[in-house]
Amino acid sequence: MLPSVRHLPDVPAFALDNDGGTYAFAVGPEGEPLRHLHWGARLTDDDIRDLASASGSRWRTFDSVPRNHDEELPAWGGQRYDDVALKVTGPGGGGLRLTYAGHSLAAAGAEASLAVRLVDALQEVAVTVHYRLFADSPVLGRRVSIEAIGERRLLLDAACSATWTLPERARLNVTAVYGGWGAETQLQRAPLVRGRTVFESRKGMTGHHGQPWVALDAGASETSGEVWSAALEWSGSWKTSVQRPSEGSTTVTIGVNDFDSALEIASGATFTTPESVALRSTTGFDGMTAAWHDYQRRFVLREPELLRPVLYNSWEATEFDVGHQQQLELARIAAEMGVELFVVDDGWFGARDSAAAGLGDWTVNPRKFPDGLAPFVADVHALGMRCGLWVEPEMVNPDSDLYRAHPEWVIRFPEREPALRRGQLVLNLAREDVRDWMLETLSRLVAESGVDYLKWDANRPIADPGWGTDPAPEGRDLWTEYTLGLYGVLDTLRERHPALLIEACAGGGGRVDLGMLRRTHQVWTSDNTDALDRIPIQRGYSYVYPPQTMSAWVTDVPNFLTKRSTPLRFRFHAAMRGVLGIGGDLRRLGPEAIGEHRELVAEYTRIRPAVQQGRMHRLEGLDERGVDAVQYTSADGSLAAVLLLAPSAAFGPQHLRVRLRGLDPDGVYRHGGREVSGALLMDAGVRFVATGDYSSALEVIERVSERPAPSGSR
Ligand code: DGJ
Repeated sequence: MLPSVRHLPDVPAFALDNDGGTYAFAVGPEGEPLRHLHWGARLTDDDIRDLASASGSRWRTFDSVPRNHDEELPAWGGQRYDDVALKVTGPGGGGLRLTYAGHSLAAAGAEASLAVRLVDALQEVAVTVHYRLFADSPVLGRRVSIEAIGERRLLLDAACSATWTLPERARLNVTAVYGGWGAETQLQRAPLVRGRTVFESRKGMTGHHGQPWVALDAGASETSGEVWSAALEWSGSWKTSVQRPSEGSTTVTIGVNDFDSALEIASGATFTTPESVALRSTTGFDGMTAAWHDYQRRFVLREPELLRPVLYNSWEATEFDVGHQQQLELARIAAEMGVELFVVDDGWFGARDSAAAGLGDWTVNPRKFPDGLAPFVADVHALGMRCGLWVEPEMVNPDSDLYRAHPEWVIRFPEREPALRRGQLVLNLAREDVRDWMLETLSRLVAESGVDYLKWDANRPIADPGWGTDPAPEGRDLWTEYTLGLYGVLDTLRERHPALLIEACAGGGGRVDLGMLRRTHQVWTSDNTDALDRIPIQRGYSYVYPPQTMSAWVTDVPNFLTKRSTPLRFRFHAAMRGVLGIGGDLRRLGPEAIGEHRELVAEYTRIRPAVQQGRMHRLEGLDERGVDAVQYTSADGSLAAVLLLAPSAAFGPQHLRVRLRGLDPDGVYRHGGREVSGALLMDAGVRFVATGDYSSALEVIERVSERPAPSGSR
């Protein structure tokens, strides 16, 4: 449906309608804040009036007044002790009393928007709450702008993007991801306790340990029940605080982490938070995932229509020891397999023979590539592949020409020795000269070498967040400005090189978020390439982020990290669930193995539109049999692919029926040489036999016609 915003001037209230239902809030009388009314089923104008006429929710003496779930934008001040989205110190001291001062509505194409302006005259601050709605989507977007309208500056102690209030439910579960390096995006779902449950990053980057999204459900399953989910489009430190009070509704306050931040707004200036997006699903986690994927494909992703190429990456094969002829040898074999993009990982530049030196010196190492980069890129192009390079532009090794020239460019407290991680320090991207250097260096690299793709890595978080050895400018917030600086470089690089493909990486999946997905084509999910470990990592990833952004490689066995050996087909079937890549030492393979790789790559390219751009379903009912099955149906419904992974079958062969979803029950589909109805595929399912360890299968189902063939003709 087309989204709309209803203004009910008599209440006064606003009702925002989209595919998720209605979201409503009222404007309080003079001196009172905006009052949250509803986020749920579609309501009529009279329903909204009814909700608005009821007095606020229960509170007991000593509680916050008002409770934060009764407010649309809880701003600290007065008797507020709950979570707040905003905390400002201004000329009037601490605290805010915001009063409605007008609104504006707009609709353009697939989007509708509402902006509500609030003012605190004493603090000389104007706050605008922005809402966005999208056609055919349950997703709502919210941002807050804070403007210093007086002569004096404001100090922003906390500026979250939104407080999302859920309707009251007797029980709620909270779902979020946790993890670490090599173990990213592991799902956890637990009953939500009363009090505050906080997920956050204080690292200046998204983190391996969590991600800025959360889901709450009132007893939902994969395919049924209510789920609310909120996410933040931000790649720096973030915070999601879920508050479940003793009585009343649960709230999710989400935004840039206020820990250690000190943002100042100069007189006349405005700071706008990143956007938080949220949705309501009434069809369980499957509905939530479908809505998140669809939203990103239509409103976030870079070139969503572009099928991501099958890539080869040299890291696990050759690490830092790269060179023209040796990489070309790998490239020839990769081309034979059907690889479309060849990527030289770390080690091609400066004095980079290990992690201890060279970062910052983005000129080719003449010993490794004596003819320079351009002839190598041309050789790869001549093999019919695109060519890519690894870079880590935000970092510097103290043992580098860049650091020797600009020691003042690194983030550190001037009086303290900066702490190294992986032998490196972080460049201060809040500085304009650093950003200019980075942009020019990368731009030149792309233009002069002719590469088509950059893998943009970042192998450490920020620590000791000082401006560096130069005097720190007044009133600057390094945490926020770092992330905005990073976005600025990525955005300008894109403008200058519109055809350039970029993969985001941070020591594996350390920076996976909507902010990076808006600026890159895909992300490196995890350095853990073990196919078995990838099952939960990729499952957690799939909850919010679409498969065409999830890089997944087939690498050698035993796996470098886990020492586990799994069959080639199993590794392929795991990696085919995202953007397929190959990352082993191809020189070790004989002609037969190369042929096998070629066949599996071809199987992937056949199902690629469905995997990368179609509708994904995590198939149910198989977990207790130890089988993980994911279905991908192409956007036009003509092809469905099911990738099945059975790590271990106990007590002999396991005969399973795997039930598909989302097909046309009346349609005729070809599967395994036979023609069957969609009803059969969804109700009885397809057969899968798991035997021993690491069984796997790719089942391809193609649509033949609208109506079932007459019986007897099958
Ligand atoms: C960490 C990445 O996740 C790896 O894939 C690889 O690019 C290394 N960095 C290179 O240093």
